Amino acid sequence: MARGGPQYVCQSCGAVHPKWAGRCDGCGAWNSLAEEVPAEAPPQGPGLSQRRRRGRVLEVASLAADVAPPPRLATGIGEFDRVTGGGLVAGSALLIGGDPGIGKSTLLLQVSAALAAEVPCLYVSGEEALDQIRLRAIRLGIASHGVQVAAAASVGDIAATLDRATGPGAVVVDSIQTLYVDGLESAPGTVTQVRASVQELIHLAKRRGFVLLMVGHVTKEGMIAGPRVVEHMVDTVLYFEGERGHPFRILRAVKNRFGATDEIGVFQMNDRGLAEVSNPSALFLADRGRDASGCCVFAGIEGSRPVLVEIQSLIAPTAFATPRRAVVGWDGARLAMVMAVLEARCGLAFANADVYLNVAGGLKVSEPAADLAVAAALASAASGRPMPEDAVVFGEIGLSGEVRAVARDEARLKEAAKLGFTQAFAPARRPGGAARMGGIATVEIAHVADLIARTGGGATGKRTVGRARYG
Ligand code: TYD
Ligand code: MG
Repeated sequence: MARGGPQYVCQSCGAVHPKWAGRCDGCGAWNSLAEEVPAEAPPQGPGLSQRRRRGRVLEVASLAADVAPPPRLATGIGEFDRVTGGGLVAGSALLIGGDPGIGKSTLLLQVSAALAAEVPCLYVSGEEALDQIRLRAIRLGIASHGVQVAAAASVGDIAATLDRATGPGAVVVDSIQTLYVDGLESAPGTVTQVRASVQELIHLAKRRGFVLLMVGHVTKEGMIAGPRVVEHMVDTVLYFEGERGHPFRILRAVKNRFGATDEIGVFQMNDRGLAEVSNPSALFLADRGRDASGCCVFAGIEGSRPVLVEIQSLIAPTAFATPRRAVVGWDGARLAMVMAVLEARCGLAFANADVYLNVAGGLKVSEPAADLAVAAALASAASGRPMPEDAVVFGEIGLSGEVRAVARDEARLKEAAKLGFTQAFAPARRPGGAARMGGIATVEIAHVADLIARTGGGATGKRTVGRARYG
C-alpha cells in the first residue's frame, strides 16, 4: 500500500484494508468499508529500530499503599448515580449509547443541570442549535440552573475552550459522531475521526480533571457506532434502552472502572423529560394481564435490587415446517434449553407449535433464575390454565429438570410481599430458612415436574398443543 494513500476502514470493527471489498475480513460485516485518509503516522521501518533509544529502567512501586477512594460527584438523580456506582469520578470519561430518539440528550441535559449545582458545567452540542437546546431546557424546567451551552463540533475549538484553569468541572459532548479533528481528512463519524476526537478529549479530561460525558449513537446492530476501541478508551460505558411506544427507559452499565456493571436505572419519559422510577416492579406490573394463561410474574434481581416483571408466552399451532421460536427480553438459547427440559422430563410437546416469549415492559432479563418462571409461563400457555394471580416464580433449572437455588431469595420474596403477592414457587430453601417470609408462603419446587403438578399446567399440555394441530 502506498504510504499516505487512501485506505479502507471497516466502520463496525475498525479493521484496515488496502483495497475496497464488499465484506470485511475482520468481522464479516457487509458493506461496512469506507475510504479514509490515514492519520500521519510516525515513520517506521528497519532503520528506525536500530536508531531507537535504549529504554530507561522504570521505577516500580509497591501495590500496597494508602490511597483514598476517588471523590465522587453525585448528581442527586438517584437512578443515574446508582448506575455510575455512586456518582461521577473527576477526570473520568463516560460514553452513553442508545438508539436515536431514546432520550440521551434529554438525560444528559438533566444530568448537567443537576451537576451545575456543584461544579461549573458545559453542554456542547454538535447536533442541535443553541435555541433548540434552550427550548428543551425551558420545557424541562432547568433553564435557570446555570448550565453553559455551546454549539460546536471542532475538537480543536472545544479543547481550547476547556483547556483553561477556569474551565468547567463537567462537560457533555453530544455526540461523538459529529466531532472532527482539523488535521484529518476523513468525514465526521468515520472511525478515524471518532477515535482521534475521543482520544483528544479524554486526554484533556484526565489532565484538567473534569468529568467528560459523551453521547454515542448506536448502529442497527445495537453497538455504539464506530469501532469498539471507543468503548475501550473510556472508563464507563452506559446504554440507554427502551422500547418505542413504552415510556420506560433503562440505563444500564456495560463497563465501569469505578463501580459494578450489573446495576440498572429506570426512568419514565413524560412531557417534562425523564422522571426517576424508584419502584420499577410496580411500574412493570402496572398493566399486567390478570387471569390470562401463559403469564407469570418473575421475581428477579437487577444489580443490587429486586425487580418483579411479567413473563408472557404464547404457543400457537405452526404453519411452517420449522416452527418459530421468538424471544424478546430473554436469551433464545436458554428458551430452547427450558423447552427441551419440559419436553424430555415433563412430557410437554412443542414440536408442532410456534413459541413466543416476551418480558413485558421492555426489560432485558439475563439471570438464569428466570428459568422456572419461563417454564411456568410455557406450561400455563400449553395447558390454557392461568398461573395463580398472587404468585411469583424464580429458580434455575438444570438439564435433568432439577431446580437449583438462586442468590438473594429473601430479597426477592420481600419485594414480592411488598407488592401484595402471597405465594412463591421457588427452589427449596437452605436448612434453617423460614417457610414463610414476609407474609409469603413458599411452595418449594425441587423439580420442574413438581411445578407442573402443583399448578396443573402440564396435565393437558400435550393434548392442547396436539389438538390445536390436528383437531
Ligand atoms: P432526545 O433526548 O432528543 O433523544 P436522543 O438524544 O437520544 O436522540 O429525546 C427525544 C425524544 O424524547 C423525543 O421523541 C421526544 C421525547 N421527549 C419527551 O417525551 N418529553 C420531553 O420532555 C423531552 C425533552 C423529550
Ligand atoms: Mg440527541
